[in-house]
Amino acid sequence: MSSSDQLFFYLLLSSMLTSTLLANEITDDHLALLAFKNGVKSDPSGALSSWNDQSGHFCNWTGVSCSHKHPNRVTALDLSMLDLGGFISPSIANLSFIQTIELPVNGFSGEVPPEFGRLHRLRSLNLSNNALHGVVPVNLANCSKLRVLDLGSNQLSGSIPVELGQTLLKLEMLMLDNNSLTGVIPSSIGNLSSLTVLFLMRNNLQGTIC
Ligand SMILES: *[C@@H]1O[C@H](CO)[C@@H](O)[C@H](O)[C@H]1NC(C)=O
Ligand SMILES: *[C@@H]1O[C@H](CO)[C@@H](O)[C@H](O)[C@H]1NC(C)=O
Ligand SMILES: *[C@@H]1O[C@H](CO)[C@@H](O)[C@H](O)[C@H]1NC(C)=O
Ligand SMILES: *[C@@H]1O[C@H](CO)[C@@H](O)[C@H](O)[C@H]1NC(C)=O
Ligand SMILES: *[C@@H]1O[C@H](CO)[C@@H](O)[C@H](O)[C@H]1NC(C)=O
Ligand SMILES: *[C@@H]1O[C@H](CO)[C@@H](O)[C@H](O)[C@H]1NC(C)=O
Repeated sequence: MSSSDQLFFYLLLSSMLTSTLLANEITDDHLALLAFKNGVKSDPSGALSSWNDQSGHFCNWTGVSCSHKHPNRVTALDLSMLDLGGFISPSIANLSFIQTIELPVNGFSGEVPPEFGRLHRLRSLNLSNNALHGVVPVNLANCSKLRVLDLGSNQLSGSIPVELGQTLLKLEMLMLDNNSLTGVIPSSIGNLSSLTVLFLMRNNLQGTIC
């Protein structure tokens, strides 16, 4: 082989590797979105009817935004106020580049998936005004970039995990109001120096915040 042949071979090989990597990325986020759609059992306005392979690339599906820097990686999912019913599929946790999840004012029941704890880039999670039950998952304490956490107006029970106040140091808004939370408000919440909005009313919580 001449050196230009070698160069050509190298370029060919590296472009094959790159497209293999790209194909895997497409598959991961694509599959995660399809699995999310699977969890949606009612969609009265047909918002997710664009979510199929006939209507183009998944980055163009209703409510989906993708990264400019990392093509084909989902950065935001915004399906607010659509009256969607069903459960929130844990497959969302495979959207590893996601920063924003907005699913408020829908009819999702089931639990807040603990798998959300894998989303290290997550900055904003709004699941308010649904019918979610179960606990506030302690795993959310792994989402150390979280600035906004709104789980208000659901049917969540159990206590507020102490860990949230220990690791979510960037938290600016924490809304857990209008649930069925019990126990003592963790004093670690008082340590969150960026916190400007804290809604805990309409629960059965005890204690003070200092
Ligand atoms: C999304 O749709 C627009 C306009 O319909 C099109 O120009 C663009 O190429 C599509 N993007 C992808 C990633 O398919
Ligand atoms: C996430 O992706 C992995 C590997 O791609 C897959 O095995 C797993 O089932 C997916 N998890 C969910 C909850 O979809
Ligand atoms: C969450 O979404 C609801 C409905 O759009 C909105 O009223 C609320 O302000 C949002 N929460 C935060 C913290 O932005
Ligand atoms: C997240 O947090 C839980 C509980 O604190 C922990 O067990 C788990 O290993 C952490 N990591 C992930 C990726 O969820
Ligand atoms: C409390 O949450 C329920 C849904 O769980 C909702 O119907 C109700 O309007 C909420 N109340 C307030 C005052 O936000
Ligand atoms: C608050 O933060 C300080 C300094 O990081 C730490 O020593 C203390 O244990 C924290 N308090 C709580 C209740 O987490």
